[in-house]
Amino acid sequence: MSQPRANARKKPARATSSKAPKTGGREARGQRFAEDVDAEVLAFTSSVSFDQRLLHHDVRGSLAHVQVLAKAGMLKPREAKALSDGLRAVEADLASGKAKIAPGDEDIHMAVERLLTARLGPLGGKLHTARSRNDQIATDLRLWLRDELDALVGELRALDAAFVELAARHVDTVLPGYTHLQRAQPVRLAHHLLAYHEMLSRDRGRFLDARGRLNRSPLGSAALAGTTFPLDRELSAKLLGFDGPTANSLDATSDRDFVVEFLAAAALLQAHLSRFAEELVLWSSAEFAFAELPDSHSTGSSIMPQKKNPDVAELIRGRTGRVNGALVAILTVLKGLPLAYNRDLQEDKQPLFEAVDVVRGSVRVLTSLVPRLVIRTETMERAAEDPALMMTDVADALAREGLPFREAHAAVGALVRTTLALARDPRTLDAKELKAIHPRLRLDHVKGLEPGGSTDQRRVIGGTAREAIVRALARARKDLAR
Ligand code: ARG
Repeated sequence: MSQPRANARKKPARATSSKAPKTGGREARGQRFAEDVDAEVLAFTSSVSFDQRLLHHDVRGSLAHVQVLAKAGMLKPREAKALSDGLRAVEADLASGKAKIAPGDEDIHMAVERLLTARLGPLGGKLHTARSRNDQIATDLRLWLRDELDALVGELRALDAAFVELAARHVDTVLPGYTHLQRAQPVRLAHHLLAYHEMLSRDRGRFLDARGRLNRSPLGSAALAGTTFPLDRELSAKLLGFDGPTANSLDATSDRDFVVEFLAAAALLQAHLSRFAEELVLWSSAEFAFAELPDSHSTGSSIMPQKKNPDVAELIRGRTGRVNGALVAILTVLKGLPLAYNRDLQEDKQPLFEAVDVVRGSVRVLTSLVPRLVIRTETMERAAEDPALMMTDVADALAREGLPFREAHAAVGALVRTTLALARDPRTLDAKELKAIHPRLRLDHVKGLEPGGSTDQRRVIGGTAREAIVRALARARKDLAR
Protein backbone atom coordinates (compact mmCIF):
# COMPACT_ATOMS: atom_id res chain seq x y z
CA MET A 1 0.00 0.00 0.00
CA SER A 2 3.02 2.26 -0.05
CA GLN A 3 2.62 5.37 -2.12
CA PRO A 4 5.05 6.68 -4.68
CA ARG A 5 6.82 9.58 -3.06
CA ALA A 6 8.64 12.25 -5.00
CA ASN A 7 10.76 13.08 -1.99
CA ALA A 8 11.63 9.52 -1.08
CA ARG A 9 15.08 9.70 0.28
CA LYS A 10 17.52 6.90 -0.21
CA LYS A 11 17.08 4.10 2.21
CA PRO A 12 19.76 4.37 4.89
CA ALA A 13 22.50 1.81 4.55
CA ARG A 14 22.08 0.95 8.20
CA ALA A 15 20.11 -2.07 9.19
CA THR A 16 16.45 -1.28 9.75
CA SER A 17 14.01 -3.17 11.88
CA SER A 18 12.55 -6.04 9.92
CA LYS A 19 9.13 -4.69 10.84
CA ALA A 20 9.88 -1.22 9.58
CA PRO A 21 7.23 -0.13 7.10
CA LYS A 22 8.18 1.23 3.72
CA THR A 23 6.83 4.73 4.29
CA GLY A 24 7.01 4.57 8.07
CA GLY A 25 6.43 8.08 9.38
CA ARG A 26 9.63 9.31 7.84
CA GLU A 27 8.57 12.76 6.78
CA ALA A 28 8.26 14.06 10.30
CA ARG A 29 11.46 12.33 11.39
CA GLY A 30 13.69 13.72 8.67
CA GLN A 31 17.30 12.61 8.97
CA ARG A 32 17.49 12.51 12.74
CA PHE A 33 17.04 8.77 13.09
CA ALA A 34 19.21 5.86 12.10
CA GLU A 35 16.27 3.48 11.94
CA ASP A 36 12.78 3.69 10.53
CA VAL A 37 10.14 3.73 13.17
CA ASP A 38 9.02 0.31 14.34
CA ALA A 39 5.75 -0.78 12.71
CA GLU A 40 4.09 -1.41 16.03
CA VAL A 41 5.20 1.99 17.30
CA LEU A 42 3.84 3.65 14.20
CA ALA A 43 0.51 1.90 14.64
CA PHE A 44 0.51 2.87 18.30
CA THR A 45 1.21 6.54 17.69
CA SER A 46 -0.60 7.17 14.43
CA SER A 47 -3.80 9.19 14.46
CA VAL A 48 -4.51 9.16 10.74
CA SER A 49 -7.22 6.51 10.98
CA PHE A 50 -9.39 9.04 12.79
CA ASP A 51 -7.94 12.50 12.20
CA GLN A 52 -8.47 12.13 8.43
CA ARG A 53 -11.88 13.44 9.34
CA LEU A 54 -10.14 16.83 9.61
CA LEU A 55 -8.95 16.76 5.99
CA HIS A 56 -11.04 19.66 4.76
CA HIS A 57 -10.19 21.89 7.68
CA ASP A 58 -6.53 20.94 7.53
CA VAL A 59 -6.40 22.06 3.92
CA ARG A 60 -8.33 25.22 4.73
CA GLY A 61 -5.79 26.10 7.40
CA SER A 62 -2.92 25.38 5.00
CA LEU A 63 -4.45 27.57 2.30
CA ALA A 64 -4.53 30.50 4.71
CA HIS A 65 -1.00 29.74 5.83
CA VAL A 66 0.19 29.81 2.21
CA GLN A 67 -1.22 33.31 1.74
CA VAL A 68 0.42 34.54 4.89
CA LEU A 69 3.74 32.93 3.93
CA ALA A 70 3.54 34.69 0.58
CA LYS A 71 2.84 38.01 2.28
CA ALA A 72 5.85 37.41 4.52
CA GLY A 73 7.96 37.02 1.39
CA MET A 74 8.62 33.34 1.95
CA LEU A 75 6.79 32.23 -1.19
CA LYS A 76 6.81 33.76 -4.64
CA PRO A 77 3.29 34.38 -5.98
CA ARG A 78 3.82 31.55 -8.44
CA GLU A 79 4.80 29.17 -5.64
CA ALA A 80 1.87 30.22 -3.51
CA LYS A 81 -0.45 29.52 -6.43
CA ALA A 82 1.07 26.11 -7.08
CA LEU A 83 0.83 25.19 -3.40
CA SER A 84 -2.77 26.34 -3.16
CA ASP A 85 -3.80 24.46 -6.30
CA GLY A 86 -1.88 21.44 -5.10
CA LEU A 87 -3.57 21.49 -1.70
CA ARG A 88 -7.00 21.66 -3.33
CA ALA A 89 -6.09 18.80 -5.65
CA VAL A 90 -4.85 16.68 -2.76
CA GLU A 91 -8.07 17.28 -0.88
CA ALA A 92 -10.12 16.35 -3.94
CA ASP A 93 -8.04 13.23 -4.59
CA LEU A 94 -8.30 12.04 -1.00
CA ALA A 95 -12.01 12.78 -0.88
CA SER A 96 -12.69 10.92 -4.13
CA GLY A 97 -10.44 8.01 -3.22
CA LYS A 98 -8.08 8.74 -6.11
CA ALA A 99 -5.33 9.20 -3.54
CA LYS A 100 -5.11 7.05 -0.45
CA ILE A 101 -3.93 7.51 3.09
CA ALA A 102 -0.85 5.32 3.52
CA PRO A 103 -0.32 3.18 6.60
CA GLY A 104 2.91 5.09 7.15
CA ASP A 105 1.15 8.44 7.45
CA GLU A 106 1.40 9.51 11.04
CA ASP A 107 -1.54 11.86 10.84
CA ILE A 108 -3.63 13.77 8.34
CA HIS A 109 -1.10 16.61 8.29
CA MET A 110 1.69 14.33 7.15
CA ALA A 111 -0.58 12.57 4.66
CA VAL A 112 -1.50 15.86 2.99
CA GLU A 113 2.11 17.01 2.94
CA ARG A 114 3.27 13.69 1.47
CA LEU A 115 0.70 13.81 -1.32
CA LEU A 116 1.40 17.48 -1.95
CA THR A 117 5.10 16.83 -2.26
CA ALA A 118 4.44 13.85 -4.53
CA ARG A 119 2.63 16.29 -6.79
CA LEU A 120 4.83 19.35 -6.58
CA GLY A 121 8.25 18.03 -5.68
CA PRO A 122 10.46 20.01 -3.27
CA LEU A 123 8.11 23.02 -3.35
CA GLY A 124 5.75 20.92 -1.22
CA GLY A 125 8.37 21.08 1.50
CA LYS A 126 7.96 24.86 1.77
CA LEU A 127 4.43 24.60 3.14
CA HIS A 128 5.59 23.80 6.65
CA THR A 129 7.73 26.95 6.91
CA ALA A 130 6.83 28.90 10.06
CA ARG A 131 4.41 26.23 11.17
CA SER A 132 4.31 23.23 13.44
CA ARG A 133 1.77 20.47 13.62
CA ASN A 134 1.10 21.86 17.07
CA ASP A 135 -0.44 25.12 15.88
CA GLN A 136 -1.77 23.29 12.84
CA ILE A 137 -3.82 20.74 14.78
CA ALA A 138 -5.02 23.37 17.24
CA THR A 139 -6.24 25.39 14.24
CA ASP A 140 -7.77 22.42 12.44
CA LEU A 141 -9.68 21.30 15.49
CA ARG A 142 -11.06 24.78 16.17
CA LEU A 143 -12.15 25.11 12.55
CA TRP A 144 -13.75 21.69 12.51
CA LEU A 145 -15.50 22.11 15.83
CA ARG A 146 -16.77 25.55 14.84
CA ASP A 147 -18.48 24.06 11.77
CA GLU A 148 -19.94 21.20 13.79
CA LEU A 149 -21.09 23.61 16.48
CA ASP A 150 -22.78 25.87 13.93
CA ALA A 151 -24.53 22.91 12.34
CA LEU A 152 -25.58 21.62 15.75
CA VAL A 153 -26.96 25.01 16.80
CA GLY A 154 -29.08 25.05 13.64
CA GLU A 155 -30.29 21.51 14.32
CA LEU A 156 -31.06 22.39 17.92
CA ARG A 157 -33.16 25.30 16.77
CA ALA A 158 -35.16 22.93 14.57
CA LEU A 159 -35.72 20.53 17.47
CA ASP A 160 -36.68 23.40 19.72
CA ALA A 161 -39.19 24.59 17.11
CA ALA A 162 -40.65 21.07 16.96
CA PHE A 163 -41.24 21.12 20.73
CA VAL A 164 -42.78 24.58 20.56
CA GLU A 165 -45.12 23.62 17.71
CA LEU A 166 -46.23 20.46 19.49
CA ALA A 167 -46.81 22.59 22.60
CA ALA A 168 -48.94 25.00 20.57
CA ARG A 169 -51.19 22.08 19.59
CA HIS A 170 -51.64 21.04 23.21
CA VAL A 171 -52.41 24.16 25.18
CA ASP A 172 -55.69 22.55 26.20
CA THR A 173 -54.45 19.04 26.85
CA VAL A 174 -54.13 18.44 30.58
CA LEU A 175 -52.16 15.61 32.11
CA PRO A 176 -50.89 14.85 35.59
CA GLY A 177 -47.67 16.59 36.46
CA TYR A 178 -45.35 14.36 38.46
CA THR A 179 -42.82 14.64 41.20
CA HIS A 180 -41.04 11.46 42.30
CA LEU A 181 -42.94 9.93 39.37
CA GLN A 182 -46.05 10.18 41.58
CA ARG A 183 -49.02 12.13 40.29
CA ALA A 184 -48.78 15.58 41.81
CA GLN A 185 -50.86 18.35 40.18
CA PRO A 186 -52.48 18.76 36.78
CA VAL A 187 -50.40 20.59 34.17
CA ARG A 188 -51.08 21.52 30.58
CA LEU A 189 -49.12 19.42 28.10
CA ALA A 190 -47.91 22.61 26.45
CA HIS A 191 -46.33 23.57 29.75
CA HIS A 192 -44.59 20.23 29.97
CA LEU A 193 -43.24 20.54 26.43
CA LEU A 194 -42.18 24.14 26.88
CA ALA A 195 -39.95 22.97 29.73
CA TYR A 196 -37.87 21.32 27.01
CA HIS A 197 -37.88 24.55 25.03
CA GLU A 198 -36.31 26.27 28.03
CA MET A 199 -33.63 23.59 28.37
CA LEU A 200 -32.82 23.64 24.67
CA SER A 201 -32.62 27.38 24.44
CA ARG A 202 -30.14 27.45 27.34
CA ASP A 203 -28.22 24.68 25.57
CA ARG A 204 -28.05 26.80 22.45
CA GLY A 205 -26.80 29.72 24.49
CA ARG A 206 -24.07 27.59 26.03
CA PHE A 207 -22.82 26.46 22.61
CA LEU A 208 -22.81 30.02 21.32
CA ASP A 209 -20.91 31.23 24.41
CA ALA A 210 -18.32 28.53 23.85
CA ARG A 211 -18.08 29.52 20.20
CA GLY A 212 -17.06 33.05 21.13
CA ARG A 213 -14.02 31.82 23.07
CA LEU A 214 -13.19 29.10 20.55
CA ASN A 215 -13.06 31.49 17.63
CA ARG A 216 -9.40 32.53 17.78
CA SER A 217 -6.64 31.48 15.44
CA PRO A 218 -3.61 29.61 16.80
CA LEU A 219 -1.80 29.81 13.41
CA GLY A 220 1.58 31.43 13.84
CA SER A 221 2.11 29.99 17.32
CA ALA A 222 4.27 27.31 15.65
CA ALA A 223 5.53 24.56 17.96
CA LEU A 224 5.24 26.50 21.21
CA ALA A 225 7.06 29.81 21.12
CA GLY A 226 5.88 31.57 17.97
CA THR A 227 7.91 31.88 14.80
CA THR A 228 10.91 33.80 13.52
CA PHE A 229 9.04 34.62 10.30
CA PRO A 230 7.05 37.84 10.12
CA LEU A 231 3.62 36.21 9.77
CA ASP A 232 0.56 38.41 9.60
CA ARG A 233 -1.46 36.52 12.13
CA GLU A 234 -4.34 38.93 11.82
CA LEU A 235 -4.57 38.01 8.15
CA SER A 236 -4.62 34.23 8.63
CA ALA A 237 -7.18 34.68 11.40
CA LYS A 238 -9.35 36.75 9.10
CA LEU A 239 -9.00 34.35 6.18
CA LEU A 240 -10.23 31.55 8.40
CA GLY A 241 -13.16 33.47 9.83
CA PHE A 242 -11.63 33.76 13.30
CA ASP A 243 -12.19 36.88 15.38
CA GLY A 244 -8.44 37.33 15.69
CA PRO A 245 -5.26 35.50 16.66
CA THR A 246 -4.73 33.80 20.01
CA ALA A 247 -2.66 35.85 22.45
CA ASN A 248 -0.12 33.35 23.77
CA SER A 249 1.63 30.68 21.74
CA LEU A 250 2.14 28.27 24.65
CA ASP A 251 -1.53 28.44 25.55
CA ALA A 252 -2.73 28.28 21.95
CA THR A 253 -0.83 25.12 21.10
CA SER A 254 -1.57 23.23 24.28
CA ASP A 255 -4.96 24.10 25.66
CA ARG A 256 -8.10 22.32 24.64
CA ASP A 257 -10.48 24.17 26.88
CA PHE A 258 -12.61 24.93 23.84
CA VAL A 259 -13.11 21.16 23.50
CA VAL A 260 -14.02 20.86 27.17
CA GLU A 261 -16.47 23.74 26.96
CA PHE A 262 -18.13 22.21 23.94
CA LEU A 263 -18.32 18.81 25.63
CA ALA A 264 -19.69 20.25 28.85
CA ALA A 265 -22.46 21.92 26.86
CA ALA A 266 -22.94 18.71 24.88
CA ALA A 267 -23.20 16.62 28.05
CA LEU A 268 -25.92 18.90 29.37
CA LEU A 269 -27.76 18.85 26.07
CA GLN A 270 -27.59 15.06 25.92
CA ALA A 271 -28.82 14.87 29.53
CA HIS A 272 -31.84 16.94 28.50
CA LEU A 273 -32.49 14.77 25.46
CA SER A 274 -32.11 11.69 27.62
CA ARG A 275 -34.71 12.93 30.09
CA PHE A 276 -37.18 13.41 27.24
CA ALA A 277 -36.22 10.00 25.85
CA GLU A 278 -37.03 8.48 29.23
CA GLU A 279 -40.44 10.14 29.13
CA LEU A 280 -41.03 8.70 25.67
CA VAL A 281 -40.23 5.24 27.02
CA LEU A 282 -42.61 5.72 29.92
CA TRP A 283 -45.36 7.38 27.91
CA SER A 284 -45.34 4.74 25.20
CA SER A 285 -45.72 1.91 27.73
CA ALA A 286 -49.15 0.30 28.18
CA GLU A 287 -49.01 1.39 31.81
CA PHE A 288 -48.95 5.09 30.88
CA ALA A 289 -50.33 4.99 27.32
CA PHE A 290 -49.85 8.75 27.06
CA ALA A 291 -48.26 8.58 23.64
CA GLU A 292 -47.55 6.32 20.74
CA LEU A 293 -44.31 6.49 18.83
CA PRO A 294 -44.60 6.76 15.06
CA ASP A 295 -43.97 3.42 13.31
CA SER A 296 -41.14 5.11 11.44
CA HIS A 297 -39.32 5.60 14.74
CA SER A 298 -40.09 2.26 16.38
CA THR A 299 -38.52 -1.15 16.26
CA GLY A 300 -39.95 -4.63 16.46
CA SER A 301 -38.99 -7.77 18.30
CA SER A 302 -37.41 -10.74 16.57
CA ILE A 303 -39.54 -13.12 18.62
CA MET A 304 -42.60 -11.27 19.94
CA PRO A 305 -44.68 -10.24 16.95
CA GLN A 306 -46.79 -7.76 18.90
CA LYS A 307 -43.90 -5.69 20.20
CA LYS A 308 -43.33 -2.07 19.28
CA ASN A 309 -40.21 -0.89 21.00
CA PRO A 310 -38.89 2.60 21.76
CA ASP A 311 -35.29 1.76 20.80
CA VAL A 312 -34.65 5.24 19.43
CA ALA A 313 -35.43 6.78 22.79
CA GLU A 314 -33.46 4.11 24.61
CA LEU A 315 -30.40 4.72 22.47
CA ILE A 316 -30.55 8.46 23.04
CA ARG A 317 -30.67 7.70 26.75
CA GLY A 318 -28.04 4.98 26.45
CA ARG A 319 -25.54 7.04 24.48
CA THR A 320 -25.51 9.79 27.09
CA GLY A 321 -22.70 7.95 28.81
CA ARG A 322 -20.51 8.36 25.75
CA VAL A 323 -20.84 12.12 25.87
CA ASN A 324 -20.20 12.26 29.59
CA GLY A 325 -17.27 9.92 29.06
CA ALA A 326 -15.81 12.21 26.42
CA LEU A 327 -15.97 15.17 28.78
CA VAL A 328 -14.23 13.25 31.55
CA ALA A 329 -11.67 11.85 29.11
CA ILE A 330 -10.53 15.28 27.90
CA LEU A 331 -10.51 16.81 31.36
CA THR A 332 -8.34 13.91 32.46
CA VAL A 333 -5.98 14.29 29.49
CA LEU A 334 -5.50 17.96 30.33
CA LYS A 335 -5.07 17.79 34.06
CA GLY A 336 -1.49 16.60 34.22
CA LEU A 337 0.05 18.30 31.21
CA PRO A 338 2.98 20.65 31.67
CA LEU A 339 3.11 23.46 29.12
CA ALA A 340 3.08 23.30 26.20
CA TYR A 341 2.10 20.64 23.61
CA ASN A 342 2.23 17.01 24.69
CA ARG A 343 1.21 14.09 22.54
CA ASP A 344 -1.46 13.24 25.08
CA LEU A 345 -3.42 15.96 23.31
CA GLN A 346 -3.90 13.68 20.34
CA GLU A 347 -6.36 11.84 22.60
CA ASP A 348 -8.76 14.76 22.32
CA LYS A 349 -10.09 13.77 18.93
CA GLN A 350 -11.85 10.43 19.16
CA PRO A 351 -13.94 11.31 22.23
CA LEU A 352 -14.82 14.66 20.69
CA PHE A 353 -15.79 13.13 17.34
CA GLU A 354 -17.87 10.50 19.07
CA ALA A 355 -19.65 13.01 21.27
CA VAL A 356 -20.40 15.27 18.31
CA ASP A 357 -21.87 12.34 16.41
CA VAL A 358 -24.01 11.29 19.36
CA VAL A 359 -25.46 14.74 20.08
CA ARG A 360 -26.06 15.67 16.46
CA GLY A 361 -27.57 12.27 15.70
CA SER A 362 -29.82 12.43 18.75
CA VAL A 363 -31.01 15.95 17.98
CA ARG A 364 -31.79 15.09 14.39
CA VAL A 365 -33.69 11.89 15.11
CA LEU A 366 -35.79 13.62 17.77
CA THR A 367 -36.55 16.48 15.41
CA SER A 368 -38.19 14.08 13.00
CA LEU A 369 -39.87 12.12 15.80
CA VAL A 370 -41.47 14.92 17.85
CA PRO A 371 -43.92 16.21 15.22
CA ARG A 372 -45.07 12.64 14.54
CA LEU A 373 -45.57 11.68 18.15
CA VAL A 374 -49.15 10.54 18.65
CA ILE A 375 -50.43 12.07 21.88
CA ARG A 376 -53.11 10.04 23.64
CA THR A 377 -54.99 13.02 24.99
CA GLU A 378 -57.84 10.87 26.39
CA THR A 379 -55.49 8.83 28.60
CA MET A 380 -53.73 11.94 29.79
CA GLU A 381 -56.98 13.67 30.60
CA ARG A 382 -58.44 10.62 32.34
CA ALA A 383 -55.31 10.39 34.49
CA ALA A 384 -55.54 14.10 35.30
CA GLU A 385 -59.14 13.65 36.49
CA ASP A 386 -57.86 11.98 39.65
CA PRO A 387 -59.22 14.32 42.37
CA ALA A 388 -56.15 13.68 44.50
CA LEU A 389 -54.25 15.94 42.08
CA MET A 390 -56.43 18.88 43.11
CA MET A 391 -55.93 18.56 46.85
CA THR A 392 -53.29 21.32 46.91
CA ASP A 393 -55.97 23.62 45.51
CA VAL A 394 -58.25 22.84 48.49
CA ALA A 395 -55.43 23.59 50.92
CA ASP A 396 -54.68 26.81 49.01
CA ALA A 397 -58.34 27.84 49.25
CA LEU A 398 -58.32 27.34 53.03
CA ALA A 399 -55.07 29.29 53.28
CA ARG A 400 -56.61 32.14 51.26
CA GLU A 401 -59.37 32.24 53.88
CA GLY A 402 -56.76 32.87 56.56
CA LEU A 403 -56.03 29.37 57.84
CA PRO A 404 -52.27 28.92 58.28
CA PHE A 405 -51.11 26.77 55.36
CA ARG A 406 -49.76 24.06 57.68
CA GLU A 407 -53.22 23.66 59.25
CA ALA A 408 -54.87 23.71 55.83
CA HIS A 409 -52.42 21.00 54.74
CA ALA A 410 -53.36 18.89 57.76
CA ALA A 411 -57.10 19.38 57.16
CA VAL A 412 -56.84 18.31 53.53
CA GLY A 413 -54.58 15.41 54.55
CA ALA A 414 -57.41 14.20 56.77
CA LEU A 415 -59.84 14.63 53.86
CA VAL A 416 -57.60 12.49 51.62
CA ARG A 417 -57.18 9.79 54.25
CA THR A 418 -60.95 9.61 54.87
CA THR A 419 -61.92 9.49 51.21
CA LEU A 420 -59.31 6.81 50.54
CA ALA A 421 -60.62 4.72 53.46
CA LEU A 422 -64.20 5.11 52.25
CA ALA A 423 -63.24 4.71 48.58
CA ARG A 424 -65.09 7.97 47.88
CA ASP A 425 -64.43 10.83 45.54
CA PRO A 426 -64.07 13.89 47.80
CA ARG A 427 -66.37 15.78 45.40
CA THR A 428 -69.26 13.51 46.48
CA LEU A 429 -69.03 14.23 50.23
CA ASP A 430 -71.82 16.33 51.67
CA ALA A 431 -71.41 19.40 53.86
CA LYS A 432 -71.81 17.45 57.10
CA GLU A 433 -69.23 14.86 56.16
CA LEU A 434 -66.79 17.59 55.23
CA LYS A 435 -67.34 19.49 58.43
CA ALA A 436 -66.74 16.31 60.43
CA ILE A 437 -63.30 16.01 58.85
CA HIS A 438 -62.42 19.66 59.52
CA PRO A 439 -64.74 22.47 60.72
CA ARG A 440 -63.50 24.85 57.98
CA LEU A 441 -64.11 22.44 55.06
CA ARG A 442 -67.12 23.37 52.92
CA LEU A 443 -68.85 22.02 49.83
CA ASP A 444 -67.58 24.81 47.58
CA HIS A 445 -64.02 23.78 48.43
CA VAL A 446 -64.41 20.46 46.65
CA LYS A 447 -67.40 20.65 44.35
CA GLY A 448 -65.92 22.45 41.36
CA LEU A 449 -62.56 20.70 41.34
CA GLU A 450 -61.45 19.87 37.80
CA PRO A 451 -58.02 19.67 36.20
CA GLY A 452 -58.22 22.50 33.66
CA GLY A 453 -59.58 24.93 36.25
CA SER A 454 -56.89 23.79 38.61
CA THR A 455 -54.12 24.65 36.14
CA ASP A 456 -55.68 28.04 35.45
CA GLN A 457 -55.24 29.10 39.05
CA ARG A 458 -51.48 29.03 38.51
CA ARG A 459 -51.25 32.29 36.67
CA VAL A 460 -47.86 33.32 38.04
CA ILE A 461 -45.01 33.85 35.61
CA GLY A 462 -43.78 30.37 34.72
CA GLY A 463 -47.03 28.74 35.88
CA THR A 464 -49.23 26.27 34.01
CA ALA A 465 -52.37 28.47 33.64
CA ARG A 466 -53.64 28.78 30.10
CA GLU A 467 -52.91 32.51 30.01
CA ALA A 468 -49.37 32.00 31.30
CA ILE A 469 -48.77 29.38 28.62
CA VAL A 470 -50.10 31.55 25.84
CA ARG A 471 -47.57 34.20 26.90
CA ALA A 472 -44.80 31.60 27.17
CA LEU A 473 -45.58 30.29 23.69
CA ALA A 474 -45.38 33.77 22.20
CA ARG A 475 -42.03 34.33 23.92
CA ALA A 476 -40.72 30.96 22.71
CA ARG A 477 -41.67 31.74 19.13
CA LYS A 478 -39.98 35.11 19.35
CA ASP A 479 -36.88 33.43 20.80
CA LEU A 480 -36.79 31.02 17.87
CA ALA A 481 -37.21 33.74 15.28
CA ARG A 482 -34.08 35.52 16.54
N1 ARG B 1 -1.49 14.09 15.54
C1 ARG B 1 -1.08 15.12 16.42
C2 ARG B 1 -2.20 15.51 17.37
O1 ARG B 1 -3.27 15.19 17.08
C3 ARG B 1 -0.65 16.31 15.68
C4 ARG B 1 0.39 17.10 16.37
C5 ARG B 1 1.62 16.30 16.48
N2 ARG B 1 2.65 17.09 17.03
C6 ARG B 1 3.77 16.56 17.46
N3 ARG B 1 4.67 17.35 17.96
N4 ARG B 1 3.97 15.27 17.46
O2 ARG B 1 -2.02 16.12 18.39
